Amino acid sequence: MKAGREELMEIVDLWGYSKDAQEQILAILQSEDVPPPHLFRYYGPTEGKGKVWQAERLFEETLGTKHALAVNSGTSALMSAAAAAGIGPGMEVIVPGYTFFASASIIVASRAIPVIAEIDDSLNLDADDVERKITPQTGAIVVVHMKGMPAQMDRIMEIAKKHDLIVIEDVAQACGGSFGGKKLGTIGDLGCFSFDFYKIAQSGEGGFVATDDDYLNMRAQSWHDTAACWRPDRYAAERREGELFCGENYRMSEMSGAVALAQIRKLPGYVSRLQAAKKKVRDRIIERDGFSLRRQPDPQGDASTALVMFGPDAETALAIMGAMKERGVGAGGRFDQTVRDWHVFNFWEHILEQKTVTEEGCPFTCPYYEGTLPDYGPEMCPNTLDYLSRSLHMGVSEFWTDEDAEKIAEGINGAVEEVLG
Ligand SMILES: Cc1ncc(COP(=O)(O)O)c(C=O)c1O
Repeated sequence: MKAGREELMEIVDLWGYSKDAQEQILAILQSEDVPPPHLFRYYGPTEGKGKVWQAERLFEETLGTKHALAVNSGTSALMSAAAAAGIGPGMEVIVPGYTFFASASIIVASRAIPVIAEIDDSLNLDADDVERKITPQTGAIVVVHMKGMPAQMDRIMEIAKKHDLIVIEDVAQACGGSFGGKKLGTIGDLGCFSFDFYKIAQSGEGGFVATDDDYLNMRAQSWHDTAACWRPDRYAAERREGELFCGENYRMSEMSGAVALAQIRKLPGYVSRLQAAKKKVRDRIIERDGFSLRRQPDPQGDASTALVMFGPDAETALAIMGAMKERGVGAGGRFDQTVRDWHVFNFWEHILEQKTVTEEGCPFTCPYYEGTLPDYGPEMCPNTLDYLSRSLHMGVSEFWTDEDAEKIAEGINGAVEEVLG
């Protein structure tokens, strides 16, 4: 059954147009004989160069990377990247203890062993802890740029190079950010983006895998495309050895592609407005003993969607938060042991208790694994819990004016002064 006007009107309805406006739109649609859209990304009247294809090319240009493969979610992007990189049985993969659970889950779903590492005062992977956790089994690092803040990529890449490790960047929360002049997601071997509704750029659901490596891109493409059934060139034979294998289906539809394309066009403008708004507030905040702002590993590349501040300890941070609230400045996001949060490792029972999809317990019982399992438990990364428990998170608006910035900074500085004396 082909999609037609009725489907388009359902989309128009999503925009919330009035009944009257919808009738006018329908009248225009009925007056023209327009062929139905082809919502499958490959083939059709556009010969595979429809909205998804255009979104991919524009994203490549925006990131400055050779390949950007569109997929149907950020989790799919991570799974495709892991498959492309050959992450699998016997391998340990390092992942930070503060990230959305998907960054860790895909390691287990790829049948590798997740090794959870500490974060530092940038709330991203602590490079020193990464180095401490490397063993002969380590094959890859999943580095996550949380809430738009670039991780310390120079150190991470140096360590990866020294130990010959694959680096997968999880850029789900930091689309448009950069480090050292390079866009996040183009520094490691593969960069994974989420375009779900809550992200900097969104298409309802969606994601991208970016890489400069032709072979990795080909393998990610195979994995994402119905067990390599459709292929860009339908019945094509193996393009290169190691490229044809059984995969999944993570293709992006033309509907998501159309929205992603429009969002990618808006991305640079949005990120620079976000950066300018945040800078106005950051510059006015007075740091002092016991009160600091989240460290920016590269201030120019900071695409953070939250302004994060640290108190000296959890209790004092809570008091500062209360005093801020009294001044009309809201902040939240503090890690609280009693509130479940999939972004903090100590709630990842799936891993800590080694819960697996099949009874034999793979990958934790994998005979190919020659290492010693990490000592999984809620106490395994104390620094991570400490940083999170004394951090305050305030959402950033691209629309903050100088006047807003003045008020917000005044509220924060006043609250800190009141609590710390
Ligand atoms: C850091 C991180 N990685 C991966 C994902 C997964 O993305 P998606 O929801 O598109 O599957 C998310 C989404 O919240 C995320 O924040």
